[in-house]
Amino acid sequence: MTTNVFPSVRNKFPDGFFDKLFALPDSLGYEIYHQILLTKGGHITDIGNSRGGKTEKKKWLLLQLSRIGETIIEFDTGKEGDIECYFWNDNPEFRFNKPVTVLVPYEGECKFEVTGVPEEIRVQVLPVPSPELMLDMIQPGEINIVSLRNYFDDPKELKKYFRRIFQNAALRARRGEFKKWSPACISIDEAHEVTGGQRGSLDGESVALTLELGNMERQLASSKIRLFFTTQELEDLSKPIRKNTHIFIVNRGDYSTCENKKIRWLSGFASRAFPNQGWFVIHGEHYYKNFPVDFPYVGSPECVTVTRSGAADAPFMDDGDEELLLDGGYLAVSHFPREEVIRVGSPFADLPELPPDTGPGPVEFVNVWEQKEESKKSEGEKNES
Ligand SMILES: Nc1ncnc2c1ncn2[C@@H]1O[C@H](COP(=O)(O)OP(=O)(O)OP(=O)(O)O)[C@@H](O)[C@H]1O
Ligand SMILES: [Mg+2]
Repeated sequence: MTTNVFPSVRNKFPDGFFDKLFALPDSLGYEIYHQILLTKGGHITDIGNSRGGKTEKKKWLLLQLSRIGETIIEFDTGKEGDIECYFWNDNPEFRFNKPVTVLVPYEGECKFEVTGVPEEIRVQVLPVPSPELMLDMIQPGEINIVSLRNYFDDPKELKKYFRRIFQNAALRARRGEFKKWSPACISIDEAHEVTGGQRGSLDGESVALTLELGNMERQLASSKIRLFFTTQELEDLSKPIRKNTHIFIVNRGDYSTCENKKIRWLSGFASRAFPNQGWFVIHGEHYYKNFPVDFPYVGSPECVTVTRSGAADAPFMDDGDEELLLDGGYLAVSHFPREEVIRVGSPFADLPELPPDTGPGPVEFVNVWEQKEESKKSEGEKNES
């Protein structure tokens, strides 16, 4: 089988990339080229144990999607080593070489600072006034990093913010509002933190968000926007999401109870896989069939450092609260809306004044009962007379 790669596509990749890709066993390379790179809007889910190599595989695939011209929208996990590679890579083979836009919430003085990026890469940080505007601020053709997680102390507030970003996204996609930045890939790593599957938190916010994401998937696919979820188990994602996904990357993990038959079949092998190993399951077929794919290691550049500070869900602070900040009370206060902070007076504030210091020796207290008895007696004597 031969595949002609359009010169306009071939030019965007390093020399020899497609020769290597098509040399992969079981025609996996052809599947990646046709079903992933050329087919826009195909949703992907990357699953596996903690430290199983999910994020590294995602980075490699996002690099290829970016090269072919998809706008990348990466939701920052806030973890060291997960996003530095989008700015730079010591190995030129894994360099994105695209301008990077970082979107952060406007409230709470959220700061995102990145150092060590060579000048040839343009980096801009844009504070976004409200979550509804997040998708409007996406820069076409660039790497867009939406950084939220480290700015929310309260996970519920984070989920609310997430939900507001995607509210009405299906309708907006139908109206063509996202055409300026599609084709695109929206990547949500550690998706179990915001979506409500069968495991973890099934609170109202995550259920509503996950249903919304699931329902909009079909619309997004036809608008050439793919969702790329990275999570520990397939069941972390809601049923609509699971049913709308046909491309899976399977990492080390136990899938003996997985509802997807093809992934379940891999379970025995996958429990023994190394982090660099994994399988693709594309439209119900697994690749490779009898042994895992050896994925390249994109890694993280030594020179790039990212720091995030601020809290988008902190209450409004006035001068009084700044005093609290000094004595460390701020953390406790920040978990309550301002009006709910109950200030209890100290019981020691109402104690009677101590008698003057009479020097060493026992302090004489006035016997209140004796005084009362005496005054009663004298009042009775007065009345008798
Ligand atoms: N292709 C690879 N080649 C060599 N080592 C790898 C490869 N992929 C992953 N690793 C090793 O495994 C470690 C974990 O990888 P990664 O961060 O991708 O896992 P993860 O599943 O995303 O973990 P977590 O659940 O903690 O986010 C890496 O730091 C690296 O040491
Ligand atoms: Mg990870």
